[in-house]
Amino acid sequence: MNFTLRVNVGEHCQYDCGYCRPGLVRAPTGASQRVQPAEYARLALLFAPLGVTKVRFTGGEPLLRPDFREVVAAFHQALPDATLALTTNGQRLDALLDDLPPGLGAVTVHVDSLQADRYRRLMGEGDVSAVLASVQRAKALGLATKLNVVVQRGLNDDELPDFLAWSRRTGLEVRFIELMNTGSASGFTRAHFFAGAEVVARLGATRLGRKHAADPACLFRAADGTVFGLIASDTAPFCEDCARLRLSADGRLRGCLYEPAGAPLGALLRAGWSDAMLSGLVKRAVSEKRSHHPSLALPRGRFSMADLGG
Ligand code: GTP
Ligand code: 5AD
Repeated sequence: MNFTLRVNVGEHCQYDCGYCRPGLVRAPTGASQRVQPAEYARLALLFAPLGVTKVRFTGGEPLLRPDFREVVAAFHQALPDATLALTTNGQRLDALLDDLPPGLGAVTVHVDSLQADRYRRLMGEGDVSAVLASVQRAKALGLATKLNVVVQRGLNDDELPDFLAWSRRTGLEVRFIELMNTGSASGFTRAHFFAGAEVVARLGATRLGRKHAADPACLFRAADGTVFGLIASDTAPFCEDCARLRLSADGRLRGCLYEPAGAPLGALLRAGWSDAMLSGLVKRAVSEKRSHHPSLALPRGRFSMADLGG
């Protein structure tokens, strides 16, 4: 099996999206508690024998971490054949593109509105046209580039056709994401939930299928011919094909976004565990990986997406 490892490098973010709210459930991991580049270098090697073919850096906002380059370098050295990808809000993307870390091959940028005022209202202080310019620059530099949009009823669902028009104009893939109830903003999620099936109906779309079985996004073709991705985690869970492992900012390893505790790899590494002992723990966590999706009765955690890295 090929795994994707999602690494949350820190929960801080410049934005305050209604559904995410970093710090609401737990305080962000302090700088000294965060896994350091040299520790990532050791941890990454433990994942090499498992067939990790992709590492995605998430947050919070990964580019707020001053040593982000060193973090990328640690993974690139330990897993030279893995695709390294970044999910970011794009505010600091331009500076990263000026001096791209070796190995970084893909970037997904989160934008909930194409309208300057609404963007600021929904997300926070930021300039959406500058972000969109960076997204196009990332593509021009050869990075696999995508745009994520969380669809929110009454807040941005009227922009679906505008996002499609942007996608046609730029040749970049847009993915519409269903709001996920992580427990940290359940009132907001209930008020603004917009089901994937409604996106499909609004755009008169037909289903094409997933590019790779383990992708969260399913591709659709809109009535106007534009292809877009849809991530309907709530109404159409994709747990059966899930191949994701995730590492929190303090180094807890989870096999599922909704898993309450996870294995404290980072803390045990600091407590002096050997690579052989840590490797045993990783193997066990992977063999016990199972879904804790809200549709199942298993225990699940209450979290903000920033805690676990989406
Ligand atoms: P690629 O497959 O590399 O394109 O990345 P991705 O789509 O996995 O990454 P991205 O960071 O863009 O996340 C897209 C959406 O998928 C976000 O809303 C995530 O919260 C959601 N997602 C990611 N991983 C999981 C997961 O393990 N379970 C569920 N239910 N949703 C997830
Ligand atoms: N529901 C759906 N997607 C979410 N994201 C963050 N919180 C939620 C939520 N509650 C998105 C981010 C980013 C990706 C990693 O997850 O905005 O695009």
